[in-house]
This record gives sequence, C-alpha cells and structure tokens, in this order.
Amino acid sequence: MNDVVKLMKAHRSIRKFTNQAVDDNLVRELIEAGQCAATSSYLQGVSVIRVRNIQTREKIAELSGNQSYVASAPTFLVFCADLNRSGQCCERNDHTAVEGMTEHFIIATVDVALMAQNVALAAESKGLGICYIGGIRNNPEEVSELLQLPRMVYPVFGLCLGYPDQDPLPKPRLPVDMVLMEETYQHDRDNKQLDDYDQIIRQYYEQRTGGKLSQTWSEQMNKLLGKESRPHMKEFLRKRGFEMR
Ligand SMILES: Cc1cc2nc3c(=O)[nH]c(=O)nc-3n(C[C@H](O)[C@H](O)[C@H](O)COP(=O)(O)O)c2cc1C
Repeated sequence: MNDVVKLMKAHRSIRKFTNQAVDDNLVRELIEAGQCAATSSYLQGVSVIRVRNIQTREKIAELSGNQSYVASAPTFLVFCADLNRSGQCCERNDHTAVEGMTEHFIIATVDVALMAQNVALAAESKGLGICYIGGIRNNPEEVSELLQLPRMVYPVFGLCLGYPDQDPLPKPRLPVDMVLMEETYQHDRDNKQLDDYDQIIRQYYEQRTGGKLSQTWSEQMNKLLGKESRPHMKEFLRKRGFEMR
C-alpha cells in the first residue's frame, strides 16, 4: 500500500479540534489542491465560503442542528454549487443561461463533492482533521441568507477543519464484494455478508461509545431511509433557480 492509499484508508471524521489555528496560506493551498479535481465539462461549479465571524458560525452551528464543532473548529468552509459565475459567461456572449436543468444541477453538485474531497484529502495529508457538515441543509434558506448567496448558488455542505484533539478508530466500510459488481448489477444479495457487516458495525459502535450505542448498519439505514429527509430541499432548490426539468 503506498502512502496516499494509506492516508485514504486512515480517514475518520474529526469533531474535536485543538486551538491551533490553520494557517491562511495552508487554507489557500488546500483550496488550490481541491480545484485540481476533475470537473464536469470544465464547469468548475464551486464557490467556497470561509466563515470566520464567530456570530455567523454560532448561528450556522445552531441552524445545523446544534453541532457545536461548526463554531469551535479553527476553520469552517461552506461548499456551494455555483452556476451563477458560469451563467454570467452566457451574458458575456450575449446569451442567457438556461435555468432549472436537472443536468446542470447534477454537474455542479458533483463538482462540489469532488473538489471538497480533494480538499479533505489534502488537509488530512497535512495532519488536519475534517468533518463534513450536511446539517447546513437543515435550514438552507437561512444559511443562504447569512452567506448572501445569489440565485443559482446553493450551499451543499460545510467542512470543519483543524488539528485533531481526538483519535477515533476508522469506521469500517462495507466489504468490497458488496460494492464492486461484475458486468451487471448484482440483484441477489448475500445476506450472510450483510449479517457479518452488521455485527462488525455493532461492535464498532459499542467499542467507540463504551457500550452506550449498540447499532447495526442495517438499523442505521432503516432509521435514515425509513422516513422523509429534509423534504424542504425541493422547494428550496426551486426558489434558488435549480428547479428540476
Ligand atoms: C456530505 C456529508 C455530510 C455530512 N454531514 C455531517 C454532519 O452534519 N455532522 C457530522 O457530524 N458528520 C457529518 N458527516 C460525516 C459522516 O457522518 C461520516 O463521514 C460517516 O459517518 C462515516 O464516518 P467517517 O467519516 O468517520 O469514516 C457528513 C459526511 C458527508 C460525506
């Protein structure tokens, strides 16, 4: 295993940070590394907002479901899908950008994910810890207002960055055999593999929480997918110009 793969396999989200600041130049370097990710049609459909103001941070922490590390992390970035900047290129060419295309929404959102993961990996290679914050989509309108986002820009997730003040065990992923399929989709599930994985995850949570949490992956997914999730997102996206068609 080379050093890059070792680093990738050592990933774990960090939610407790030391007080050590992240150098401004380092943040710029991470963003630049992030920008080198592949980008659909060369769109580069990402804007990243670094939020330093503590009142804004505290507000976003609250809006994200009281996730205190959003306020306490040395650095907090909000990754936005941005079709505003590229849309202006149509005006420069005496044209008007077409709003509401699902495909445009997908490519900008994919760009955000690819760039952010490059930033995350570069950060981890520099000894930083990271935690994505999808919680900002609990109240996306308020977050967008706080950040003064224009139309055709929406906040996809936040990213906490800082030097780790905890050392959690990496969370085991699904076995490769359940994820990697040959030639066609594998419709028959091997229940034994899932049973075994469920037990691994139960043990992982029990160990990590000193027995306070005992939950399998299946139970976790049942809780996640067995109910509606952020049903306000469709209307929020429509209002921002991301209506789907
Ligand atoms: C897009 C995205 C949004 C996430 N949102 C949150 C969040 O709001 N709060 C949080 O504590 N963790 C969040 N996470 C972290 C996941 O919970 C974490 O990645 C997952 O449980 C796997 O654990 P690991 O990162 O330690 O391997 C998010 C991760 C991703 C990729």
